[in-house]
Amino acid sequence: MSGLDLQSLWSGGEDAFVAALGYLFEHSPWVVARAYAQGPFVDADALLAATSTVLALATQEDRLALIRAHPQLAGKAAIAGDLTVSSQREQKSAGLDRLTPEEFERFHALNRVYQERFAFPFIVCARLNDKTSILAALEARSSQDEAAEITTALLEISRIARLRLADALNAAPLETKA
Ligand code: GUN
Repeated sequence: MSGLDLQSLWSGGEDAFVAALGYLFEHSPWVVARAYAQGPFVDADALLAATSTVLALATQEDRLALIRAHPQLAGKAAIAGDLTVSSQREQKSAGLDRLTPEEFERFHALNRVYQERFAFPFIVCARLNDKTSILAALEARSSQDEAAEITTALLEISRIARLRLADALNAAPLETKA
């Protein structure tokens, strides 16, 4: 199946652009909406660079809202089947839909420690990891300082967006709106 053409999508206007790609940032279509004005984009890297600029210029409050828009890995939303299509797929690719009860318990305990310390959920690009590396990162990053952790979370979010965009350009996008 052929994917989206960024340049013609951009020519169709901001609303259509955001409707098609707003989901690149979890529950946060404002990132792509603010990036739109920097177009047209010759390729994925150009759009991703524009979204990086948006995040660099965003308020700290907006950046924290973006981080907080993500579900915990193997968390309540996953158990309740209440994830976006993309997120469900990302968690599945890391094997998080096939955890043993002990592994679930470990995720739950570590997620709680992390969330209590930072007041936002742990973010790592699930598609570039597996359950073992995610658990190790969750434990290691729980003792980072807050500023470093926010920087790391935003870097991981950009990795998540890069993979979602690559899918959208190579094949049918998973979601049509955020
Ligand atoms: N929360 C932590 N990691 C991820 C991820 O890769 N995708 C989504 N949707 N949420 C996350």
